[in-house]
Amino acid sequence: MDRPQGQTRIAMRELLYNEHCLIQTAAMHAALEMLPTFPENKSLTIVDYGCGQGVNAIEPMEKILSSLPNGAIASLVFEDTPWNDWPTLVETIYNKMHTISQPGRNIQLFLNLVPVGFYDHVVPKKAADVGLCWSSLNYLKVQPNLNLDPSAPPSEFIAARRKAFATAAHQDLIEFLKFRASEIREGGTFVAAVGGQKPDSNTRPTNTGMAPLQAAMLKLVRMGRLTATELAQFALFPSHERTPEELQNALAIPEVADLWEVETVEPKLIVHPAWETYQKTLNMSGQNDVKQKEALKNYAQASLQNLVSSSGWFWLEVLKKSRGSHWIGGQDLLEELTRVAVQEWVENFENMKVEIWYTYLRLKRKGANA
Ligand SMILES: C[S@@+](CC[C@H](N)C(=O)[O-])C[C@H]1O[C@@H](n2cnc3c(N)ncnc32)[C@H](O)[C@@H]1O
Repeated sequence: MDRPQGQTRIAMRELLYNEHCLIQTAAMHAALEMLPTFPENKSLTIVDYGCGQGVNAIEPMEKILSSLPNGAIASLVFEDTPWNDWPTLVETIYNKMHTISQPGRNIQLFLNLVPVGFYDHVVPKKAADVGLCWSSLNYLKVQPNLNLDPSAPPSEFIAARRKAFATAAHQDLIEFLKFRASEIREGGTFVAAVGGQKPDSNTRPTNTGMAPLQAAMLKLVRMGRLTATELAQFALFPSHERTPEELQNALAIPEVADLWEVETVEPKLIVHPAWETYQKTLNMSGQNDVKQKEALKNYAQASLQNLVSSSGWFWLEVLKKSRGSHWIGGQDLLEELTRVAVQEWVENFENMKVEIWYTYLRLKRKGANA
């Protein structure tokens, strides 16, 4: 086993991610139709790579299990980094156990929780029939080093970051797919929803809703609540949002193409469900200014809480490094950041629609008998 300590430290905010991950749930829902079925299998192993706190792991597993014949045995593997909120995952699984176990169908279940990180072996060779990966492939194995002139303009920083992170992401994906190819048996399937950027052929970009948050961060720097150095570290968040073309390039590399048959590479634009709620509320509130403002605030809050619960754990790591591990102001600072960002959104980003391009992958493990 590789030492995960050498890898990027990443996790979602304890307890909060499950509650606020609405767009990730929408992204997973858009993949349900791509899942394989197993009406002949007496036994089956499904692995969720990057399961997080589990709220989006259960439904796809349930759907696959529902295709099994009565009396089958199924092994469910939940994998994430050692820093994941494992207690919340356990509680999520426990609360859903009555439906996962397919009542009345006599499916025997075995659960495995694997805290190793997916740039490593997660299950033994050829042990898995299906690998799933929801909103998790954008995180990089190691944070690339960016040696930048601090006086360089922001556009140079953005370009240098994108180049270094794209190169790392390309290597990571090749490594990830090689690991999965050793674990998923010949003929087995890997399905992923990969959050990223628009396809070359489309003009509408991904909008994660980061702009008001960035404005709020700058405000906190001006207020002396964050330092410019901490802010620069936040910007090195170890994630690369790939285009479908970048994914296709990695899949075409011979060492990957020898292992995987590409069944689907499909971009889909996923809209934040809070946007739909906001539009409905606007329609119902007529000319009522107070109701409209309230609806906008709720939309901004839902979108920002999603971002902060996904990225806040990493930001707190940066702050603890900068302020010392005993620093205890993290929760307050994230709450303040969210409050200021909501205000920014309401004042300056009123009509901003949060929507993210996802690329959906369905790959089949090649092999003699596949
Ligand atoms: C945005 S969350 C998605 C969680 C869940 N799959 C979902 O759809 O809600 C990304 C997850 O990927 C996990 N992750 C990132 N890098 C990882 C790695 N190298 N190994 C395992 N999990 C990783 C994070 O810890 C986090 O739980």
